Amino acid sequence: MAISRIGVVGCGLMGSGIVETCARCGYDVIVREVNQELLDRGLARIKGSMAKGVEKGKLTAGEMDAAWARIRGTCALEELQASDLVIEAVTENMAEKKAIFSTLDRLCPAHTVIASNTSSMCITEMAAATKRPDKVLGMHFFNPVPIMPLLELVRTIQTSDDTLQVARDVGASLHKTIVVAKDTPGFIVNLLLVPYLLGAVRALENNLASREDIDTAMKLGLNHPMGPLTLLDFIGVDTAYYIANVMYDEFKEPQYAAPPLLKRMVLAGHLGRKTGKGFYDYK
Ligand code: 3HC
Repeated sequence: MAISRIGVVGCGLMGSGIVETCARCGYDVIVREVNQELLDRGLARIKGSMAKGVEKGKLTAGEMDAAWARIRGTCALEELQASDLVIEAVTENMAEKKAIFSTLDRLCPAHTVIASNTSSMCITEMAAATKRPDKVLGMHFFNPVPIMPLLELVRTIQTSDDTLQVARDVGASLHKTIVVAKDTPGFIVNLLLVPYLLGAVRALENNLASREDIDTAMKLGLNHPMGPLTLLDFIGVDTAYYIANVMYDEFKEPQYAAPPLLKRMVLAGHLGRKTGKGFYDYK
């Protein structure tokens, strides 16, 4: 099936990155946010990111303008009804996701594939809110989406071969390398990443070393682009806390249990770069 129109639900950090990447690769994209203020903020983020791409020589000004012209914003979910593929990228709230999946199922034609960018939540549960579970799967992108080369596809026991192939083809057209995982919490990347990040927080709690030394050790010792505490600030302390809770709820294994410090940082609003303070200060 040829995909030409992509709908994206949510224009936050991940949604805006997905919109930008799809538009830059030639798709017509319509993105929905819940209100005009959030939509304007998301669209401005896309514009800023593409301008940075031009500055870095990754695309020309003409390509940026053409990509921009392919993007349309809306506050009405109904306007996504003509999409061949919809990628949901709202906050990690299952009730909200199920309501969106159910509405999209009602609005969209039979061929439309509905995907979630969730980092850890159960895709099968979202599929159960539709009458097309064979056309539902996970398409998990990585932040910053236009730069990170991986796309993790999540196949449930109901996802059809055709649906998986559609997602593979779209992923390839976005120049992403594809891996396929089963629908279990955390899929591949977060299953392995989350215990590592939580371990770094425990190391800090136990005064093993300073935050800088923990980060420097892992960055230079393993040639990672960022140390774990910097990466937590980059992902969002709340997002990491949320993913850990989803994984702990399902597996009941101590390696996924959020350390007390993480919970207290979330309660204090120290969520990382997005709030100007996390393990480090960004103000
Ligand atoms: N468009 C296109 N290309 C861009 C760009 C843009 N807007 N902005 C930058 N680039 C390019 C640059 O030109 C450069 O390309 P080059 O290597 O060919 O020269 C490359 O992207 C890196 O850009 P910068 O030099 O500006 O930035 P840094 O070198 O400081 O890298 C980073 C920034 C890519 C964020 C790097 O620090 C990194 O990889 N960090 C780790 C990110 C990570 O782990 N993300 C995954 C988080 S987990 C997740 O998302 C899953 C969720 O479920 C939790």
